[in-house]
Amino acid sequence: MQNIIDNALEYVKEVFETDYSGHDYFHTFRVYKTATNIAIKEKANLEIVQLAALLHDVDDVKLSPETHTNKDKARSFLRINSVEETTMEAICQIIDEISYKGKDSVIPKTLEGKCVQDADRLDAIGAIGIARAFAYGGNHNRVIHNPNINPNLDMDAKEYRNHISTTINHFYEKLFKLKDLMNTDIAKIIAQDRERYMKEYISEFMDEWEGIR
Ligand code: ADP
Ligand code: NI
Repeated sequence: MQNIIDNALEYVKEVFETDYSGHDYFHTFRVYKTATNIAIKEKANLEIVQLAALLHDVDDVKLSPETHTNKDKARSFLRINSVEETTMEAICQIIDEISYKGKDSVIPKTLEGKCVQDADRLDAIGAIGIARAFAYGGNHNRVIHNPNINPNLDMDAKEYRNHISTTINHFYEKLFKLKDLMNTDIAKIIAQDRERYMKEYISEFMDEWEGIR
């Protein structure tokens, strides 16, 4: 088991070597560590959780649209590493369920999926979440803030993927929604602290924007 985890760590290091959109290797590594901690608390299957966490972004629709539908990269890694067919299907199902898609987001069917989704979403909030949002915004040519553009709070998957907005709006369109979408008890507790930190950050940002501070 350790051997395949080491192989997966090496594999994702290569895949994300040139990512500057907030989906770099260290994002995957943090999701792997957090998912493992949640899985231990929840007594979930560690092999499935750890491999799904490590492979969760390799076929992401934004990063690898041509392999997204069939999860080609994840499947080929798992086949080369002789992972059983049923385990592979469980992992690919989690990867399919994990992503935030506005009101089309899904709650993963398995406990393992819930652990990985929570870990991925925790990495989108708090101090690191703030850094990732602005990295993503810069990488996708979005402005930091424009008070004349209102957030769209009720998007489906297609609108969420295609709409043009600002990074500050992204806090309202996604990040402030995540606390109430956590699946596991431990993630709900961690999310509360991270959300409080983001709210303070946005409040400070708006004060500075208005020239109050
Ligand atoms: P998921 O991990 O649920 O698939 P994404 O890949 O869309 O979600 O988001 C991953 C990271 O990119 C998060 O930290 C998120 O805040 C950031 N991000 C995604 N879309 C935007 C956006 N429109 N503006 C700023 N940051 C974004
Ligand atoms: Ni991710």
